[in-house]
Amino acid sequence: LQNDKKRLQISVRLKKDLIRGLGKHSHHRAAVKMLPTFVRATPDGTEKGDYLALDLGGTNFRVLYVRVVEEQQKVVKMDSKICSIPQEMMLGTGEQLFDHIAQCLGEFLESQDLKGQTLPLGFTFSFPCEQKEIDKSILIRWTKGFSCSGVEGQDVVKLLKEAIHRRGDYDIGSVAMVNDTVGTMMSCGYRDQSCEIGMIIGTGTNACYMEEIKNVKRVEGEDGRMCINTEWGGFGDDGSLKDILTEFDEVVDQTSINPGVHTFEKMISGMYLGEIVRLLLVKMAEDKLLFKGETSEALLTPGQFETKYISEIEEPDSGLENAQKILTALGLNWDPVDACVVRLVCDTISSRSARLCAAALATISNRIRVNRGLDHLKTTVGVDGTVYRKHPNFSEELQAAVRLLAPKCDITFLVSEDGSGKGAAMVTAVAQRIELCQINQYLFFLLTTVTKLL
Ligand code: BGC
Repeated sequence: LQNDKKRLQISVRLKKDLIRGLGKHSHHRAAVKMLPTFVRATPDGTEKGDYLALDLGGTNFRVLYVRVVEEQQKVVKMDSKICSIPQEMMLGTGEQLFDHIAQCLGEFLESQDLKGQTLPLGFTFSFPCEQKEIDKSILIRWTKGFSCSGVEGQDVVKLLKEAIHRRGDYDIGSVAMVNDTVGTMMSCGYRDQSCEIGMIIGTGTNACYMEEIKNVKRVEGEDGRMCINTEWGGFGDDGSLKDILTEFDEVVDQTSINPGVHTFEKMISGMYLGEIVRLLLVKMAEDKLLFKGETSEALLTPGQFETKYISEIEEPDSGLENAQKILTALGLNWDPVDACVVRLVCDTISSRSARLCAAALATISNRIRVNRGLDHLKTTVGVDGTVYRKHPNFSEELQAAVRLLAPKCDITFLVSEDGSGKGAAMVTAVAQRIELCQINQYLFFLLTTVTKLL
């Protein structure tokens, strides 16, 4: 993906897919799902109260207790708890998973002395969901290493409530569901009112943006805008990226727990980057280009080259030293040239990821610009995710590539402050005040309440 022309082609392909996903009839077969979130941008808000937030889908599962203080228009995180989700559970039954979530929430409520209350709850559930209403979200499919049985096609809110009722020792109030991209876009809204794109590059990758309702063919209405969860991770699932997939991408896909789907995500996100590098290193060693032609048990074991090693190895000052430590820990017999080559491999894979994201982001910003009939668009993207945050030059590389691909868009990047946590609680806060189906009000509240946060 070194070549600008190729990136432009990718961007144009995604543009077609966005249109297909928005179509009334074509969306059923679309690789890029373009899910309506029913969030419309219009500001106001005077909410107050205590809320719970759940965050499932990233590196950890979190429970948060958040207070919205009306007088000061403030959102205060009171406390939170992180619960790990063991891998067996990610692959077990849905009932086990939701029982675990309910248990973690129960322990948290106990520790906060909140068990007697029925607090409203915001649920950041970072998987593709067909949202019917704010409190009805049907899981389309699992991604990112989750594959619990009996959940796809089901309403996640119902499964959560059932698990809580099975325990019977506490209850929750109304529930609002939100994708992490949407939470990120909204939580960035307070620092910058022109934030109308949310992007995640972490364990998985995805983006949402404000689309003209008249273009969202499966939603009634002509005026105004709606936030669309693109689920761009599915780009390429219909074979449209075949020409840029390498043999290593094919292996990553085939050995994943969801072969054939989320093709774009598998070339980009933290769940897969380390594995792509590992496969490349094995091949290079087998071809006698590295480690004197020898491998090690660790290098031959899937998952042993973690994505965080890429960031460590690409650190500008300590990178080579880190590479040497990591290669030693992997039981490899390296020489200084090997360490440099490994660094180059890491750089190639992380740069490809950044450039692919850039092509996709350029498509979205160009679309917003053309939608509005503007010659020049000034907009802001709220971003989150471990790859974007932790990698030493991912963000610069992505930004530089977007500038080339979307020269008529002036894009500001804002790293979100806990969009998945506080954002979800704020969405719920509005759900308390207005009728549950008027989701447009949520964004509205968020933009005004959080504007005052700083
Ligand atoms: C999911 C998206 C999510 C993204 C980032 C993807 O695997 O399908 O819903 O936004 O990961 O967490």
